[in-house]
Amino acid sequence: MKDLSGRTCAVTGANSGIGQKVAEGLAGYGATVIMVCRNRDRGEAARSKIAARVEGAELRLRLCDLAALDDVRRLARDLSSEHSRLDLLVNNAGVYRAKLEITADGFEKTMAVNHLAHFLLTHLLMAPLTAARGRVINVSSAAHTSGHLRRAPLESIIRGDGDYDGFRAYGDSKTANILFTRELARRCGDSGLTVAAVHPGAVATRIYNQNDNLSSLIVRLFKPLMRSPASGARPCLWLATRPDPDRMQGRYFVRMKEALPQPDARDDQLARRLWELSARLTGTYDGAADVQ
Ligand SMILES: NC(=O)c1ccc[n+]([C@@H]2O[C@H](COP(=O)([O-])OP(=O)(O)OC[C@H]3O[C@@H](n4cnc5c(N)ncnc54)[C@H](OP(=O)(O)O)[C@@H]3O)[C@@H](O)[C@H]2O)c1
Repeated sequence: MKDLSGRTCAVTGANSGIGQKVAEGLAGYGATVIMVCRNRDRGEAARSKIAARVEGAELRLRLCDLAALDDVRRLARDLSSEHSRLDLLVNNAGVYRAKLEITADGFEKTMAVNHLAHFLLTHLLMAPLTAARGRVINVSSAAHTSGHLRRAPLESIIRGDGDYDGFRAYGDSKTANILFTRELARRCGDSGLTVAAVHPGAVATRIYNQNDNLSSLIVRLFKPLMRSPASGARPCLWLATRPDPDRMQGRYFVRMKEALPQPDARDDQLARRLWELSARLTGTYDGAADVQ
């Protein structure tokens, strides 16, 4: 059994699917787990479920709608004031939208939740993360291959201009997760922070079955072949506890194996441009400086 007692870990989207099982696994290792959830009732229900399964689990529920950047800022402020050290941030929450939705901040929703919110949250938690020489795990997907970030100016993709395709938008956001991982690793220098991206496998969760008949049908058909959420959580838990963080820095894993992402997702120029644009759109800073 791994021992994370005395460590503090935050997991976004911790009330459902993979995130809930990651939270449960981390609690089982003895960590204090901050469960970042959008909805209080769903968050409390997940917290009770984990508490019933893990004796003595230290679970803190924090609410945040990741589709709203101001809410992300408020969450980061609260977490930074409560925790001077953060050992692990699992950027797990994710959405797939079959139809175009634009957030109140003016961004395409998949990109806003899956990429921009996590970019901003990570940036704003950099002080407690580096103080702990912590880890960031970005939950990407093998479906990043359906993305095509070089088809149009990045800002117009992030703003949802032009024609919309749900699978492509999801792939774009998951490509962004990998590019963010690479660029963050490059900027980390010797701050001690480690960052990796992971595809957790095809997992039977709610992600595809909430918005259109086609994706619901596909999930129903393939559900018997898909992994359980507990199995989907295993790669994150493995990365969270690997004794050799240097060997995961900036890399992409398919389950527990390092893998080569599609060409767009290993384009370092694109990674840099996406970082600078994301910094501007989230109002963090000009993106030119290193993280340290
Ligand atoms: N399932 C797969 O086969 C698969 C494969 C590859 C990668 N992934 C990735 O795995 C991650 C977890 O997905 P999952 O499969 O476990 O799906 P899931 O069960 O639908 O969980 C998604 C989580 O994200 C949260 N979330 C969505 N929008 C949010 C928002 N605006 N603010 C805050 N939280 C929000 C959800 O909260 P609510 O309950 O409030 O909606 C939920 O807790 C995602 O990043 C996904 O892209 C999944």
